[in-house]
Amino acid sequence: MFYTDGRLQYPVRVDSPNPLYAKMLQQAIGGIEGEIRVAMQYFFQAWGARGPKKYRDLLLQTATEELAHIEMLSTAVALNLEGSKPAVEKGVGAKNPAIQAMLGGQDPRHYLSTGAAAMPTDANGVPFDMSHIYASGNLAADMYANIAAETTGRLLATRLYELTDDPGMKDMWSFLIARDTMHQQQWLAVLEELGGPQALPIPNSFPQGQEKSEFSYAFLTTGVEGIAPPEGRWSTGPTIDGRGEFHHEIAQPLGEEPVLSSPAEVSFAQNEQLQGGPGASPHSGNPDQPEQMGGGTMDKVKDKLTGGS
Ligand SMILES: [Fe+2]
Repeated sequence: MFYTDGRLQYPVRVDSPNPLYAKMLQQAIGGIEGEIRVAMQYFFQAWGARGPKKYRDLLLQTATEELAHIEMLSTAVALNLEGSKPAVEKGVGAKNPAIQAMLGGQDPRHYLSTGAAAMPTDANGVPFDMSHIYASGNLAADMYANIAAETTGRLLATRLYELTDDPGMKDMWSFLIARDTMHQQQWLAVLEELGGPQALPIPNSFPQGQEKSEFSYAFLTTGVEGIAPPEGRWSTGPTIDGRGEFHHEIAQPLGEEPVLSSPAEVSFAQNEQLQGGPGASPHSGNPDQPEQMGGGTMDKVKDKLTGGS
């Protein structure tokens, strides 16, 4: 259940309304680095959370705070759009394209569609489509996704801070940037509780004995012959998880050239395709890895999820 409070989480003040800045602010609402993204990401992670209850509570409470940030930024957009109709008129009416670009630089839909209000879109007017919501069911994987969200979000916030001279807007950003600092810290704290880097690789519930260990900690160089591989922390010494030694190897083709079967008649490929070509194995793959040979995958998934045999 959710409750509302008519007040903002932090004061939002605009000293000099600027419709172009309102358009820039949209990125922090509906952009992939924005507040809708983090709110929805934390909510879906919380609603699907299994295991210790404290992580569900943590996610729920921060998701709810992110709604307050959407509210603050939407208020900032609306305040920046006050008096925006004259700017649109001047931009549309001006003969000089440079003046049009300057005065008409605002999102026309801020006038046409909303009459001076925020929209769930990014700075280019593209609606937020939820495809950047990560909620994997693995708490550690989700924490890394959350850190990516908060780091790119804080980066965007600092750019928006840089883009304005408005004291009210700068004050708002100084608060939101501080909250991004804390959110980076709290997700990192969860990772520390989960064992930190020593708990890598994710998921740690998959037995590492089942992976081809000779490939687990090798940096595969794909540069042309004669070019030295890039050297760094990743090339020598113990791995981050402490389970191996970094080294590099020249990437080698371990498989064969793929040869697909001839096209099926009902695919209506060209006659030359239907009649020519090698028409080789129905399920090419590496013969010493029969599990890669295709078939039965969906049955396997179904059995795992339903507990069937
Ligand atoms: Fe936020």
